[in-house]
Amino acid sequence: MKKAIIVGTGSYLPKKILTNKDLERLVETSDEWITGRTGIKERHIADEDEAASDLGVKAAISALNEANLEASEIDLIIVTTVTPDMLFPATSCVIQDKIGATKAVAFDLNAACSGFVYGLAVAEQFIRTGTYEKILLIATEAMSKVADYTDRNICVLLGDGAGAAVLTPADDRKGLLGNWLAAAGKYGNLLYLPAGGSKMPASHKTIEEHLHYMKMEGPALFKVAIHSMVEAIEKVLSPLRIAPGELDLVIPHQANLRIIKAVAKGIDVPLEKFYVNVDMCGNMSSASIAVALDEALKEGRIKPGSLVLLVAFGAGLTWGSCVIKF
Ligand code: ACO
Repeated sequence: MKKAIIVGTGSYLPKKILTNKDLERLVETSDEWITGRTGIKERHIADEDEAASDLGVKAAISALNEANLEASEIDLIIVTTVTPDMLFPATSCVIQDKIGATKAVAFDLNAACSGFVYGLAVAEQFIRTGTYEKILLIATEAMSKVADYTDRNICVLLGDGAGAAVLTPADDRKGLLGNWLAAAGKYGNLLYLPAGGSKMPASHKTIEEHLHYMKMEGPALFKVAIHSMVEAIEKVLSPLRIAPGELDLVIPHQANLRIIKAVAKGIDVPLEKFYVNVDMCGNMSSASIAVALDEALKEGRIKPGSLVLLVAFGAGLTWGSCVIKF
């Protein structure tokens, strides 16, 4: 069975930037609090008429160009998002149409912030079994559309963006070496969006009560996030007989710089080996790791032969990891 390899990546960040100073004018907060407690300085925000599919299309086109592939050659499109254009049809079908990937099968995958890591694991299965050869994985999030800009606990954390990767079969020396996934639905109440689904359909009441915005128990998640990401790193590395110190780069989910520092300490790897963009992008849910991966490649932080670990944590709860040899 063949391994999967990433042959092209792309990312897109909306032009509009929301700084901590801007947020000081919206809610009772300060640049000092946000920077000190989260590491975030600014985040990109989609335009009013810009949906998740629009961000995803731009990232997808960059990834296809880098892979030297036409959209019409793609066999499968997987879109990871918690901010789909609509409940249905799937955002992957919207993107399939917009880029002209006419022969591609398309579906969405919702694993919240762990979406890109879950998506890589799913894409890899199709490549290993020989079902599909050219897969476009897109993580796209318009988090600003579900952020309550009257709730300082949430709105300072989130940003918008999209990242994409093209996967094809690889020779056996490089590619996706392993992955490990987990979920714990019993903690679903720590991070969720209450209204707009079949449990609580949209009504005047749900709108008045701000129930179409994301709700989060931040401090409770903080501890679980650190423990879960350390677990995901240990579980994926152990069967591969790779020590954390052998990794060239770790790309963690970008929720909070303090979480990233604690994970680095937890696996005894210096922070310099962690890719960090939470300062300039905030938390973009599943797009965080996808954008960071593209940036790390473009900045030369990942070179041929580099051993890279992706580790995610998010709503569900879901968490997981993936090791890639470039
Ligand atoms: N400005 C000023 N004060 C604030 C702000 C703000 N923007 N937000 C919260 N506070 C206040 C709270 O009201 C609270 O005040 P109180 O003590 O008077 O009630 C206090 O700050 C809370 O402070 P801390 O307990 O120190 O908060 P903490 O250090 O835990 O930071 C944060 C909060 C940033 C949310 C952190 O808990 C966190 O990052 N949690 C994890 C988030 C995460 O990993 N989510 C999962 C992935 S996200 C996804 O799936 C989309």
